[in-house]
Amino acid sequence: MIAPNASSAVAEPATRAPIVRPATSADDQFVEDLQALAFGPGRFARTAFRVRERFPIDPGLSLIAEVDGTACGSVWMTPISVGGINGYLLGPLATHPEFRKRGAGKLLAREVSVRALARKDGRFVLLVGDQDYYCPLGWQPTTQGAIQFPGPVDPTRVLVMSHENELGKSLAGPISAYRVG
Ligand SMILES: CC(C)(COP(=O)(O)OP(=O)(O)OC[C@H]1O[C@@H](n2cnc3c(N)ncnc32)[C@H](O)[C@@H]1OP(=O)(O)O)[C@@H](O)C(=O)NCCC(=O)NCCS
Repeated sequence: MIAPNASSAVAEPATRAPIVRPATSADDQFVEDLQALAFGPGRFARTAFRVRERFPIDPGLSLIAEVDGTACGSVWMTPISVGGINGYLLGPLATHPEFRKRGAGKLLAREVSVRALARKDGRFVLLVGDQDYYCPLGWQPTTQGAIQFPGPVDPTRVLVMSHENELGKSLAGPISAYRVG
């Protein structure tokens, strides 16, 4: 019998890097449970939630992060319009507490934005979130108070990403429905 050669064994990484895939209806329960866990019952009162109540999310931009086949994170996108310019509102973004700090959240935020902006019919990705988390990923502060949400929002947390340098600062007006055609 040949003893296993430990030195030539390929070490399995303790934790694999997350990957991203489109969500399916089989993920619905996971996403609902994750959002409840991440944001609690108060999530329904959040201003960003009110936007999603008025305008439907785009199921084609609903993504899941998974590690070794286990779903661990989720992000949604809502097509919107501000001042007649079409774009998207990102969120909710959440990673399951047991899978945090592995890059799933940043991967989801980046990937869903790349996919949305690649469509060319939406010119920005807006969100309400922490500058420390999102600005290193490419988001920038908007002109404070210029974009009107259907509820109170900390204007310093209203951030935008766009391929057009000046667009973010010039966005102004109420959030309205994505304009078709
Ligand atoms: C925010 C959240 C999505 C991050 O998910 P994640 O998969 O752990 O994110 P990543 O692994 O890509 O990034 C983790 C890093 O971001 C940091 N980070 C997490 N939340 C942050 C925040 N609000 N502000 C600044 N940094 C933050 C972590 O400390 C960590 O730093 P490190 O890499 O130096 O250790 C997750 O913590 C979560 O679901 N939180 C509850 C819901 C929420 O707040 N969603 C965001 C709404 S805007």
